[in-house]
Amino acid sequence: MPAREKLIVALDLPDAAAAVRLAERLKGHAGLFKVGSELFAAEGPVLARYLAGSGERVFLDLKFHDIPNTVRAAAREAAGIGVAMFDVHALGGRKMMEAALEGAREGGGKARPLVLAVTVLTSLASADLDELGVAGTTEDAGVRMAKLAQSAGLDGVIASAREARAIRRACGPRFLIVTPGIRPAGAPSHDQSRTMTPRDAVAAGADYLVVGRSITAAPDPAAAAEAIVKEMEAAGSPRETTA
Ligand code: C5P
Repeated sequence: MPAREKLIVALDLPDAAAAVRLAERLKGHAGLFKVGSELFAAEGPVLARYLAGSGERVFLDLKFHDIPNTVRAAAREAAGIGVAMFDVHALGGRKMMEAALEGAREGGGKARPLVLAVTVLTSLASADLDELGVAGTTEDAGVRMAKLAQSAGLDGVIASAREARAIRRACGPRFLIVTPGIRPAGAPSHDQSRTMTPRDAVAAGADYLVVGRSITAAPDPAAAAEAIVKEMEAAGSPRETTA
């Protein structure tokens, strides 16, 4: 799969009109558009449905975390929108992840969306895990949750690129690793504390890269996306996966 197909642009914008304008400028320059909680809380499923209906691949990033029955129903609705992937928190446990997969099958049929698990949020450090009573470092916990997600049948994880190598080692070549917190060399890190360049993230084993402000806040978003694709290509041929 070409590197461009593995670039996910986070449409973190306050309203659907602005998001549609940006998606139109980026058409053909990225593989997927990510609709997250901000846009979903403001506009509901309208934008995701519109983008999916116009042939775009959409990552619905709502990070479901609830009892299995509720997550199953939410997953069914997400799949019904026609998104290409959505996510849940691994901390919801095995039964909840299995329920998410069932919901995805019910709502999406043969073309079910990919179901991914958030391992450890990139905003958390090992000290935060300690405070929460979660054993080990962020990498230990990230690998543990990735293995659990894999054994529950999920397609992959959202994780820090810094944990990608260890997750790849533990979960093998076909398990998808999606990494946010990406910054092109020399770009401002904003509020992200543990960033990686596109080239290093791909080299570490990431399949998909989530990029927000480095593209959305650029004067020419399409050019910024292309520059990131070039950096991804510089890491060598992107990994071939089942996706
Ligand atoms: O602007 P930036 O590139 O930092 O955007 C990253 C995107 O990835 C945001 O939409 C953010 O919500 C999301 N994300 C993240 N860290 C995670 C999971 C998702 O930054 N662990």
